[in-house]
Amino acid sequence: MPSEVLRLSGVSKRYRMGENTVTALADANFVINEGDFVAILGPSGSGKSTLMHLLGFLDSPTEGEILFEGKPVSVLTETGRARVRAAKIGFVFQAFNLLPRLTVRANVRLPLSYNPEPPADADERVERALASVGMTDRAHHRPGQLSGGQRQRVAIARALVNEPRILLADEPTGNLDSHTAASILNLFKELNAQGRTIILVTHSPEIASHFKRRLHVLDGRIEERFA
Ligand SMILES: Nc1ncnc2c1ncn2[C@@H]1O[C@H](COP(=O)(O)OP(=O)(O)O)[C@@H](O)[C@H]1O
Ligand SMILES: [Mg+2]
Repeated sequence: MPSEVLRLSGVSKRYRMGENTVTALADANFVINEGDFVAILGPSGSGKSTLMHLLGFLDSPTEGEILFEGKPVSVLTETGRARVRAAKIGFVFQAFNLLPRLTVRANVRLPLSYNPEPPADADERVERALASVGMTDRAHHRPGQLSGGQRQRVAIARALVNEPRILLADEPTGNLDSHTAASILNLFKELNAQGRTIILVTHSPEIASHFKRRLHVLDGRIEERFA
């Protein structure tokens, strides 16, 4: 039995907009197990980012329950949620979100410096993360000196430096040309082959076709399709 990382049961997210209610996600039910490689697909506005925010407990559901490693997220305090998130979840975004004044190495180290007690092996972790995305020889560069694909590699290294239980990537290839997108997809594939659990949002059916599991989101409703 693979070990369970995330479980959604009856999860909905509604936003009140004056008189109206927007249902961004409706009755989501699925399990993410260790080692899963999942694509979330759907048109713009279908609820993909809403789902990713819930999976990383950056936001709370209106209805239903999210379990992380078998425990309900809703019972944690804000601080408790932030602690679990920092230790166990790595985020990658479309816009890379690197700090331009810091070197590549310092950007990758950043999540460790938020830790009140940085790990004793912080230096090794940073070098390991840089090596895992093939950016060791650019460690002293600044983001502005890198291509889009290289910046996304650095952002992935930053997400990996805490050795998270799960990697959540929201349209990580959305700002990249198709050739560069393919190389970033290959990097995610390698990370998954090493055992990393990955959930990736894309609106490219080509990219999604490489995933073992595909969750299609349409108007907030999720339908699962297997490879
Ligand atoms: N903070 C918010 N307040 C109100 N409506 C929102 C908010 N965030 C998202 N929505 C709405 O929820 C729906 C899903 O949005 P989103 O999850 O961002 O879609 P996607 O990432 O698939 O493009 C959209 O109709 C969007 O307008
Ligand atoms: Mg989105």
